[in-house]
Amino acid sequence: MNRSYEKTFSVEGGNFDNAGMASIEIKKILKDLQISDDVVRKAAIAVYESELNIISYARNGHITLYVTDDAVNVDVRDEGPGIEDIELAMKPGYSTATEQIRQMGFGAGMGLYNIKTCSDRFEISSTVGEGTHLSIKINRNGQ
Ligand SMILES: Nc1ncnc2c1ncn2[C@@H]1O[C@H](COP(=O)(O)OP(=O)(O)OP(=O)(O)O)[C@@H](O)[C@H]1O
Ligand SMILES: [Mg+2]
Repeated sequence: MNRSYEKTFSVEGGNFDNAGMASIEIKKILKDLQISDDVVRKAAIAVYESELNIISYARNGHITLYVTDDAVNVDVRDEGPGIEDIELAMKPGYSTATEQIRQMGFGAGMGLYNIKTCSDRFEISSTVGEGTHLSIKINRNGQ
């Protein structure tokens, strides 16, 4: 499928000062591309939760946005501890967030579940000791 737009964002682990920056920029890009509000909203949530997870748990990561004729796609890769039990991590309410992260208002255990809910196709894979990969697709619904 023809990629009409592509951009990659770097996300630094532990840097909460930048939390939400990729999501804000992606929202603006998608609006400028005249993607429908509902698709923009879903993509912004998926990117926000993805970048927060990189910041909270990994050393660093990359988020690539690419838009095709039929979908908005988000590819997320990080270098970090990985996820041992993906099924458990996907469960709403499950979290290993530290006290410090919880005090900042994160750690409800809803991030991955929210990403899946916003996606028309969601794939997650992880290697312990190496990192995690998310593949997110949000359909443009013949827009
Ligand atoms: N990129 C990642 N690398 C390593 N572990 C991760 C990563 N993303 C998620 N996890 C693990 O999966 C758990 C669930 O993640 P999820 O995003 O659903 O919730 P949370 O980050 O704990 O809380 P919330 O997203 O609601 O603030 C995390 O607590 C963490 O243990
Ligand atoms: Mg999270």
